[in-house]
Amino acid sequence: MRRQKTVKKFAYALALIVALFAATVHAQASETQQSERPTGEMMGNTCAACHGTHGRLGSAAFVPLAGMAAEEFVRAMRAFRDGSRPSTLMHSVAVGFSDEEYQAMAEFFAAQRIEE
Ligand code: HEC
Repeated sequence: MRRQKTVKKFAYALALIVALFAATVHAQASETQQSERPTGEMMGNTCAACHGTHGRLGSAAFVPLAGMAAEEFVRAMRAFRDGSRPSTLMHSVAVGFSDEEYQAMAEFFAAQRIEE
């Protein structure tokens, strides 16, 4: 019981961090130039807290994203967003991005090597 609660609190804290990061990326993007969109890398960095830097993880406690096929990535994000794929955290993350942003991140992660 206790442990469950702690895990939940931790998850909420992380989700909050993500929201803040995402807000920062968007703010930075609109500061530089209206027409300039945040890159897949910029957006992808907001995922690092849980998925590792550049989507790479030493351990697989959370799912690594590096090297994930772009198509599979976009499918997963859409499913998280519309709720057809159950998730603890990813629904809240996925609703914050558009399809074009999924695509940009997909290309970024697909290009990351799994090994150092
Ligand atoms: C707060 C922690 C957290 C953050 C931040 C986070 N994720 Fe996740 N992600 C998870 C968890 C946990 C799962 C497993 C599904 C679930 O329970 O939500 C997951 C699963 C995924 C999957 C499915 C992987 C697979 O193998 O099917 C994708 C894709 C994904 N996340 C993308 C992202 C992207 C892109 C971002 C940044 C925009 C991000 N995540 C940020 C926690 C996080």
